[in-house]
Amino acid sequence: MNIGEKKIDRPYRWGIVGGGRTSQVGYKHRLGALMDNTNFRLVASAFDVDAERAKEFGAALNMDTDRCYPDYKTMFAEEAKREDGVEVVDVATPNFLHYEVVKAALEAGLHVICEKPMFFSVKEGEEIKALAEKMNKVVCVTYGFSGFPMLLQMRAMIANGMIGKVNMVDLRYAHGYGCDATADVKAEGQKWRVDPKKVGKSFVLGDLSTHTFYMSELVTSDMKLKEVLCDRQAFVGSRYPLEDNAYVLMRYENGAVGRMWASAVNAGDMSSQHIRIVGSKGSLEWNDRACDTLIYEVQGEPAQVLTRGGDYNDPLTQEQERLGALHFEGLPESWANLYTKFAQVMAAKDRGDEEFIRDMIYPDIDHGIDGIRWINACVKSADQNSTWVRFDADND
Ligand SMILES: NC(=O)c1ccc[n+]([C@@H]2O[C@H](COP(=O)([O-])OP(=O)(O)OC[C@H]3O[C@@H](n4cnc5c(N)ncnc54)[C@H](O)[C@@H]3O)[C@@H](O)[C@H]2O)c1
Repeated sequence: MNIGEKKIDRPYRWGIVGGGRTSQVGYKHRLGALMDNTNFRLVASAFDVDAERAKEFGAALNMDTDRCYPDYKTMFAEEAKREDGVEVVDVATPNFLHYEVVKAALEAGLHVICEKPMFFSVKEGEEIKALAEKMNKVVCVTYGFSGFPMLLQMRAMIANGMIGKVNMVDLRYAHGYGCDATADVKAEGQKWRVDPKKVGKSFVLGDLSTHTFYMSELVTSDMKLKEVLCDRQAFVGSRYPLEDNAYVLMRYENGAVGRMWASAVNAGDMSSQHIRIVGSKGSLEWNDRACDTLIYEVQGEPAQVLTRGGDYNDPLTQEQERLGALHFEGLPESWANLYTKFAQVMAAKDRGDEEFIRDMIYPDIDHGIDGIRWINACVKSADQNSTWVRFDADND
């Protein structure tokens, strides 16, 4: 049970780049980091591409506006002069800025929490991984849906053989919010998502399916993706050459197969992520509309619905439990579970406890790099008229 007591000696001094007033994701970061009031304190920011709006927003959050900077370079330089300067930075800008901000943050000696998809190329990912190792800092990735406790339960049940050998991995992140083509030119947060220079090689493969792909890595912990075959299309034609819909077939090293449907034009669908893992004896299914439950089906037996908080759940699942059974949790708790782990991993890094970091289940830089591999392999496959592409090849 987690009732918000401290897990590290003192809260980290935390800052944000991006995530300003108009951003889609900024509030989720603040919910995650600040929910327990024991892991992080928000002390500095470069919230916005518009310096005036950044300052106004800092004031509206009751921050010290002298520490709400016009840009990240000024923020890192000014904070480095202070004894109580920022120690951890969160990168919540549009995709094309992640690499340069993360690099500058590590060079300034800060731990980093970065949005997905992390960067554009695996090469950039490997370079940043080497830099983080050199600077003795951690880079965490906000796959924000992966902190739901029932995903850890799914992982434990699969690892314990409760569905037998995994044969099929069935994934879906498909919603209908992208049906309205006019949003691409009107909404600030949508414009860069359909501009290849700013979003990268993909729209929904990066924006949506990197989440669900990481969650599949989380629950099928000992499986390795071998190759993918992807077909992608833009039903809203102005998004071409980016896609607003994609189907991906997957083959795993152990002979299992899978499929992913990623879409922003799944008209009318307001629930989005579904994960079904099918084994030789039974299946486990989770979706984000009923995130507190997990469906367990054994062939030939009545289906069971496991619920969050049930004391039959695995100890690691129970450790994430906050409100107690009967009371609904949701996305804020998922983010807070992740941020708690990020703080613990940073504290372990600072005290040199690598074993603690190895044992912690959280989205780290390797998972960020896998997200880049996923996008680049899928795009390469689709652009080669849907041929099989190895996941671990150089697809940059
Ligand atoms: N983890 C999740 O669940 C999740 C959800 C949504 C978005 N995201 C990711 O978060 C990132 C931001 O997405 P969003 O939807 O919030 O975008 P957005 O366009 O809604 O917001 C971007 C924010 O960054 C600011 N910004 C832009 N350029 C900047 C600069 N040079 N310096 C400082 N701030 C700058 C903008 O002013 C704005 O506040 C993207 O990488 C996206 O993929 C993740």
